[in-house]
Amino acid sequence: MTEQQLQAALKKFEELVREQSERSDRIKADKEYLDFDKLDKIIIGVCGGDGIGPIITKESARVLEYMLADEVKAGKIEFKVIDGLTIENRIAKMKPIPDDVLEELKKCHVILKGPTTTPQAGSDMPNIESANVAMRKALDLFANVRPVKIPEQGIDWTFFRENTEGAYAVGSKGVNVDDDLAFDFVVTTTEGTQRIARLAYEYARKNHKDRVSIINKANVIKTTDGKFLNLCREISKDYPEITTDEWYIDIATAKLVDEKRRRDFKVFILPNLYGDILTDEAAEFQGGVGTAGSANLGKRYAMFEAIHGSAPRMIDEGRGQYADPCSMLRASVMLLSHIGRQEKADLLEKALDICMFDEAKLKITGRSDGATCEQFGDYVMETVKKLSE
Ligand code: IPM
Ligand code: MG
Repeated sequence: MTEQQLQAALKKFEELVREQSERSDRIKADKEYLDFDKLDKIIIGVCGGDGIGPIITKESARVLEYMLADEVKAGKIEFKVIDGLTIENRIAKMKPIPDDVLEELKKCHVILKGPTTTPQAGSDMPNIESANVAMRKALDLFANVRPVKIPEQGIDWTFFRENTEGAYAVGSKGVNVDDDLAFDFVVTTTEGTQRIARLAYEYARKNHKDRVSIINKANVIKTTDGKFLNLCREISKDYPEITTDEWYIDIATAKLVDEKRRRDFKVFILPNLYGDILTDEAAEFQGGVGTAGSANLGKRYAMFEAIHGSAPRMIDEGRGQYADPCSMLRASVMLLSHIGRQEKADLLEKALDICMFDEAKLKITGRSDGATCEQFGDYVMETVKKLSE
């Protein structure tokens, strides 16, 4: 390493410290949560994404529009289609979210978003940041809430994944000091941790969940995970009726496979990267990532999405129309609940349980031997209709 390389690396680090310190101040100052009851009209943005994204998003939006038709007619809810979050457009503009798209997103209160393709470092695509990650940051969607349920095994988990910090905060701004040495950075802020912990404990209290598990690797990643763990512990003291336990991410990953032990888990709080990994594992027990929805919540905005990717291979092989919309429909349940339409959320959830498990008249296989995405959407709507008669 030359002196010049050292200075260049230090300068980059200085920029990151300034940027993250400003962000920390900003999120600390931002106190108010949006109150949906006070809005004259709720605007739901529908953003298709790439690959199978537009197909499964369109289907879920169709189900939502069906369920909210009266309120749309009365002018209380508006659906707004937002184009331009495709990989082609993002590459053309060299931005994870093109400016005009972000402007449109900011005019909405909640967003239903399809999977978007993430260029991987080392691929032949330019190295732009993931649109998910960029949107979570741009709209400060600090909580990634991911439920996983397997009723017959007594599993009912809710993951509260911190969504804007940890290894993701400056994940696209690591430093290659020279040909031999590279750094990435992990970021933990006080407000960033307290707000996710508070949300998780409030959820546990409201929903009578008697256990919260704090996931960390504070034995090794001492500074940032240590801070995360300590702050969560502090918050836990305000919830004495809830048992708090602490798990290192490695053993937590193992315990999720332990059939005797795993049903004891209820609510998890996790730093970003551990949350990313553990929620894919958890979703796999439930029937795969295709069955899991996810809410990205901030104080002002909220975005609802699948937990899986855009499955470009299905499109390349001409199987797009057979894509499974269940993840986006599960995300739609969370959207309905978030905007205060709890009865409709319960109705859609019940219909999905019937269509996916109890009755399961149509099977989605991802291929032509299974139902199409649209047929499944029709099936869900028929079931909703039957349940409401
Ligand atoms: C998720 C995804 C994203 C993440 C990817 C697509 C960047 O895996 O939502 O879990 O890592 O957060
Ligand atoms: Mg993931």
